[in-house]
Amino acid sequence: MKTINVGLLGLGTVGSGMLKVFQEHVELLDRRVGAKLRIKKIAVRRLPPRIPVDARLLTTDALEVVRDPQIDIVVELIGGTTVARTLCLEAIANGKHLVTANKALLGEHGLEIYRAAAEKRVDLGFEASVCGAIPIIRSVKDGLVANRILSFMGIVNGTTNYILTKMTETGQAFASVLAEAQAQGYAEADPTLDVGGIDAAHKLQILASLAYGGYIRFSDIYIEGIQNVEATDIEFARELGYRIKLLAIAKEDHGELEVRVHPTMIPETHLLASVGGVYNAVHIRGDSCGSLMFSGRGAGQLPTASSVVADIVEIAHNIVYHRPARAGLLPTSAAGGEITLRPMERIASRYYLRIMAVDKPGVLSKVSGVLGENSISIASMIQKGRDEAAAVPIVMLTHAAVEGDMRRSLQRINTLDVVAQETTCIRVEGVED
Ligand SMILES: NC(=O)c1ccc[n+]([C@@H]2O[C@H](COP(=O)([O-])OP(=O)(O)OC[C@H]3O[C@@H](n4cnc5c(N)ncnc54)[C@H](OP(=O)(O)O)[C@@H]3O)[C@@H](O)[C@H]2O)c1
Repeated sequence: MKTINVGLLGLGTVGSGMLKVFQEHVELLDRRVGAKLRIKKIAVRRLPPRIPVDARLLTTDALEVVRDPQIDIVVELIGGTTVARTLCLEAIANGKHLVTANKALLGEHGLEIYRAAAEKRVDLGFEASVCGAIPIIRSVKDGLVANRILSFMGIVNGTTNYILTKMTETGQAFASVLAEAQAQGYAEADPTLDVGGIDAAHKLQILASLAYGGYIRFSDIYIEGIQNVEATDIEFARELGYRIKLLAIAKEDHGELEVRVHPTMIPETHLLASVGGVYNAVHIRGDSCGSLMFSGRGAGQLPTASSVVADIVEIAHNIVYHRPARAGLLPTSAAGGEITLRPMERIASRYYLRIMAVDKPGVLSKVSGVLGENSISIASMIQKGRDEAAAVPIVMLTHAAVEGDMRRSLQRINTLDVVAQETTCIRVEGVED
């Protein structure tokens, strides 16, 4: 039986998980691959490693792993965009097939990595970089290959979904739920990447580039985090029959593609609305397959390792059966050929507005006047409480409107003398007009 050697970079959370899966399923994996799949070397930053491992496998020199002529597949589980980038490029340059779970690396330097892999004709597996255990990359690449993807909307960051779910269930404010999540290990000490929507945008970048066949620059993605979502808006959303989720959205419309990450109101009946806690989900619409939803654990040691090992097995299969690398499926050229990105000002959406206004006659006509002048029509409205001394919320849902028109309206509304504070605006998706 042929032996296929794997070199591992990084023995942290996911690296340890991968080792565990390998150790527990060695015979099963060998049978499924049709070859002996063995870990030949493991690079760690310092000794002793975080978990007990056969000392003969260990090295503190990662370059030794990526340059080892006996290693067929390199698995990068270090994270970050500096050392990991150098090591991945060096592994590819040495003709190694590469598996990585590194969404930040692919989100920001993917084009360079995809091109290097295509040029060297090596396989590149990155299933674990988007939504942990969910085989979403494989589904877009293979299972849905017959479709034009019309849109996808995903809950792709477990931390923010946990925070928003907790805020919805308890009515607590963002800051106190975040502090609890940090104490329980559901949020990082520095939560910026998660709550700021950047991690979700990395995943959107990877998935959208693959689904729409052109590399989308990370800087072209519109990103808004959940830091400004208030408990009161979650409560109003609930009253109106909606939930607020941080969604990563890609939509094709008349040859233009929208790519955006922001807090989004979706109807409580939408499949994504019921995905709570740290769970991830992606809702896809294809022109032949219709609507599909994938959900499951988006992070964690074993769920992520499950996808890493799936990539290793697929590549090992290719080696065993002498199948050439499928680099042709990678987005190695920039978007702009087949598909053009739509600027955020031109996207169309429904909107939720919470206007804090003084409780005086004529306020509504002033606000609706501004919206009307910008071609925005109101679908429904609630006005809560009466208080002549303080500002009260006027909550509106609009029909579909153009973002640029909405931004112009908000600028005007916020300067009206009857409006007491900046208006909250949340995009609404999942409702057909
Ligand atoms: N954790 C998840 O649930 C999850 C889910 C999906 C994707 N991912 C991705 O998977 C990757 C790994 O994440 P993780 O959670 O496993 O991170 P982690 O626990 O921090 O593990 C990274 C490991 O790499 C080691 N390392 C750093 N520089 C190194 C070097 N030059 N040579 C050798 N080892 C080095 C670190 O050593 P020290 O122990 O000395 O720090 C650490 O043990 C990241 O790209 C992450 O985005 C993680």
